[in-house]
Amino acid sequence: MADNLRPESLQRITTPELAKAFIDEQISALHSQIGAKKVLLALSGGVDSSVVAALLIRAVGEQLTCVHVNHGLLRKGESEQVIQVFKNQLGANLIYVDAVDRFLDKLAGVSDPEQKRKIIGKEFIDVFAEEARKLDGIEFLAQGTIYPDILESVGVKAHHNVGGLPADLQFELVEPVKFLYKDEVRVVGIALGLPESMVYRQPFPGPGLGVRCVGAITRDRLEAVRESDAILREEFAAAGLQGKVWQYFTVVPSFTSTGIKDGKRTDDWMVIIRAVNSIDATSATIEELPYPLLYKIRDRILSEVAGVNRVLYDLSPKPIATIEYE
Ligand code: XMP
Repeated sequence: MADNLRPESLQRITTPELAKAFIDEQISALHSQIGAKKVLLALSGGVDSSVVAALLIRAVGEQLTCVHVNHGLLRKGESEQVIQVFKNQLGANLIYVDAVDRFLDKLAGVSDPEQKRKIIGKEFIDVFAEEARKLDGIEFLAQGTIYPDILESVGVKAHHNVGGLPADLQFELVEPVKFLYKDEVRVVGIALGLPESMVYRQPFPGPGLGVRCVGAITRDRLEAVRESDAILREEFAAAGLQGKVWQYFTVVPSFTSTGIKDGKRTDDWMVIIRAVNSIDATSATIEELPYPLLYKIRDRILSEVAGVNRVLYDLSPKPIATIEYE
């Protein structure tokens, strides 16, 4: 356990200078841990795995292989950003796995939220393990574990932990940011040259848009979630709310309602807008969005997103509601 306590000598990383000192220290620690051997990393594009990838690229370059699994439940443009930043800009050894059909086929007809989460988690491990087996000579597995994950170790989140790998793939762990808090990981990410849009992203659940496409996921409804989420994020950015509102997204329930378009009745989905503020996700308040912004988002969703005839704004705080819908 002592190995898992933040060393008292580690100062809070609040400035670019402190981040640079941390990066230099970690690079030499990574050199001595890894030597000339090979490391594998599951790179989701989230803040923690991205910072670990950028640190390892600096420390061991080509010895690192990153695997990015696109499970079809990512937000619009996320996989593209991972490829752009890590492969094109940083020159990482990046394996992109298009597992969209595989995940969506497994999830077809499954409406129970816990079952959906289990399938997504298990499938992720399976896909990652298959990729790992194709590679020769891997001895280390890097993970974006951060200090709150250790403190709450009972509930270590799936996206920080590929520890469920089968017995033939038990690598030694490399966890260079395991003593850092999220705000410190972000300062380090910026010092490593990662884009702000990656480093300051809002929290995003491991099962991704899968929990926002309520009930059994269908491809058309998932597209409605993804497209409406992209519109919401664009309009929040244009209104200067990006980085100010803690978490904002859209949800599409699994039932339809009546509408009217070109003189004909429609039977289409509804999009719910959720925008909340929180410190640690245990409670949340509603962001009071200005009506002109809501109207703009509504108009864009109704005209640009196929199969949607209604837009709603969720006013429920946590508690009594939770932040996500399932
Ligand atoms: P709830 O819905 O419980 O969400 O109020 C609290 C925070 O946790 C995120 N969340 C998840 N994150 N895997 C994750 O990694 C999950 O299954 C999951 N479910 C919820 C949610 O987005 C919010 O920030």
